[in-house]
Amino acid sequence: MKSCRSTQESGTWTLPWSCSPLIAPVVARHAPFARFLRCETALVRHDMAGLRALNLAEIHASDSAGVDLQAARIGCMTPGYDLAACRREIPVLQRLIPLANCSHSPLTTATRRALDNYRDSLDRDVMDWDAWMEQVDGAKCEFAALINADPDEIAMASSVTAAVASLASALPLRAGRRRVVLSGAEFPTVGHVWLALEPGGVAVDWVPMVEGMPPALEEFQKAVDERTLLVGAAHAYYGNGAMQDVAAIARLAHRQGALILVDAYQTLGIQPVDVRAMDIDFLVSGCHKFLMGIPGIAFLYVRRQLIPRMYPTLTGWFGRADIFAFDPALLDWAPDARRFEMATPPVAAAYAARAGMALIRQTGVAAIQEWVLELSRLLSTECQARGLAIAGPPDPGARNGVTAVTCPSDAGKVEERLRDLGVLAAARGEAIRLAPHYFTTPRDLTLALDALAPLLGAP
Ligand SMILES: Cc1ncc(COP(=O)(O)O)c(C=O)c1O
Repeated sequence: MKSCRSTQESGTWTLPWSCSPLIAPVVARHAPFARFLRCETALVRHDMAGLRALNLAEIHASDSAGVDLQAARIGCMTPGYDLAACRREIPVLQRLIPLANCSHSPLTTATRRALDNYRDSLDRDVMDWDAWMEQVDGAKCEFAALINADPDEIAMASSVTAAVASLASALPLRAGRRRVVLSGAEFPTVGHVWLALEPGGVAVDWVPMVEGMPPALEEFQKAVDERTLLVGAAHAYYGNGAMQDVAAIARLAHRQGALILVDAYQTLGIQPVDVRAMDIDFLVSGCHKFLMGIPGIAFLYVRRQLIPRMYPTLTGWFGRADIFAFDPALLDWAPDARRFEMATPPVAAAYAARAGMALIRQTGVAAIQEWVLELSRLLSTECQARGLAIAGPPDPGARNGVTAVTCPSDAGKVEERLRDLGVLAAARGEAIRLAPHYFTTPRDLTLALDALAPLLGAP
């Protein structure tokens, strides 16, 4: 181990950098970042001494260059969109550094406006079902466009759990094809839905995680056979952001005549998803993580050809061919994915979801993916330089954009302390997840790591 020490010109702050020969080239690539880091560190050194909350307003005021120039200052690429303009549309950035986007993203002015429109309609008309249904349909269209599906292949639900439960209730179990093979990287709720169906004849088998990593493709290969009805694979593991190659998993599932369900909650908004190119049968996601919406809404994609053969037993009046037939004795089926819907849709959340997804699409998922990857690289380099261990794949390109910093003490407490300091991070298990998004700046990451490192006992 070679130790590079870097002293701030004023002599008030010393950064201990421990660089192994392995990461030295990476650190060298980010040498301008080191200079940038030194000057940013000066802004928060008093906070570091007493662990006082970050005064972001003061920090912003001191930055005459403007946030859109930060990337240039550290020598990394700049995003393919106007970062400063994006940031102006997120008022909370004046007070907080939101890096818990894998859990919940901040409110934008577009989303707030959409929610205001809903509240105005309540005030004005009490109920305006036509306008509300137009928003519901608009949200489905946005979701469809995001994943390259058609709107009539999309059902709206109140949560991913409800969407998966509805789908699971429709899967035709056949003699000799009752196995549901699940990746160990599933969010727990997906496992719970399938496990609860075991008394009804479903047999759940797991392809387990290995040392905190999602299973290798060969493990799926071994697990999936001609008795498999469905394979469930999260696009990224919620714990540390490790991506799964869902297109490859789909291929091997289909070779055995099985279907594939992808949970894309941890990737939609920051990673491109194309259900046609990836040959995905079913996909679920909600909106309050990287899609800039609010809780209470989720979407289910069902491949068009499968819809007419599926009859969810979890159903209700919104799943009918004619919602307004009002005949309790008639169980007809909507010809499209609406047959997977149950009841009155989550209207308020649909307003917000539509606005959030439109914003993401306008900004451009490919551009967001590039920027998030650049920020993940910086996080990796800086964590290594500070002696902070990262859980999950070391290669930022193998992660969805989330960096999970290993936390020797109680991660929940560290999350709380960070929140007191003005940094929103998301504890999960024994890690603190830092999840940058399109509006995150390199300086946000610097400040967050300056706050986090002492809490983890790093030098
Ligand atoms: C990957 C993933 N799937 C599903 C969920 C749960 O979604 P819901 O609460 O909408 O069922 C989460 C987290 O909230 C998640 O990260």
